[in-house]
Amino acid sequence: MPIIIDGKLVSSKILDEIRAKTAELKSQKGITPGLALLLVGNNPASLTYVNSKRKACTELGFYSIVEHLTEDTPEEKVLNLIEEWNNDPKIHGILVQLPLPKHINELKTTLKIKPSKDVDGFHPENFGRLVIGLPGFRPCTPAGIVELLKHYQIDTFGKHVVVVGRSNIVGKPIANMLYQKAPNANAIVTICHTAAKDLRQYTRLADILVVAAGSPNFITSDFVKDGVVVIDVGINRIEDSSSKKGYKLVGDVDFNSVAPKAYAITPVPGGVGPMTIAMLMKNTYLSASGEITYEA
Ligand code: GUN
Repeated sequence: MPIIIDGKLVSSKILDEIRAKTAELKSQKGITPGLALLLVGNNPASLTYVNSKRKACTELGFYSIVEHLTEDTPEEKVLNLIEEWNNDPKIHGILVQLPLPKHINELKTTLKIKPSKDVDGFHPENFGRLVIGLPGFRPCTPAGIVELLKHYQIDTFGKHVVVVGRSNIVGKPIANMLYQKAPNANAIVTICHTAAKDLRQYTRLADILVVAAGSPNFITSDFVKDGVVVIDVGINRIEDSSSKKGYKLVGDVDFNSVAPKAYAITPVPGGVGPMTIAMLMKNTYLSASGEITYEA
């Protein structure tokens, strides 16, 4: 059996550290980390995510604001709210839950967030900082993957990482993190996407396979070589009449088919998922403590 990479365990360890450091920051410097969360509309998955983020803030002793606006909220109102938070010294991190309703321009809202409060790491300034290896906020899900590899002492130096998916939230940033000349990186990285004629040709070469494609159970055993490390970023809701909720969560990787060939693998749920919130909290803490500097 492979190592089952336990994101719940690793995330709770990180959250414990942040809780202790937050208490110290409060008592020594009088600073309480503050996170502003914005949700527009009623996307059920987004509602769940924002609630979990709010709960994490409470559990860590953070200050938080949750603004839940209706689906038809004008774009201008969203931009004004971000501006207000940009100027609020109690707020160290701003998160606009995606996806946004179609009439609100996602890029405009991302650009509006002050880079030094962009704890999601989506602002082009933070993305550029990642690419050229400068300090800045790193996107939470990819940062969580790096933490998982570190925790399980999975060496990336000189390893071939194959990333399936080129999203701005996961695929592009994880690729950029892992090829950096830096600790816990230094990998040889291939990015695959929908234009690959035969995806297997690439994924079979992976020492570490990161899948963020948004397609339930589509990576099967014939896509991987023996001894692979599999990081499944997919969170897909599929119908399940036997479950109370009427759905169950599955990854992009067909776990039962792939696990027997793997050295280590993340389950869904309980793998990468819990890491995203832990890294969001870590970014917010780092913003409050001033440990990430934006000076040249
Ligand atoms: N929607 C799905 N993942 C994320 C995320 O990491 N941050 C935000 N803001 N929205 C998301």
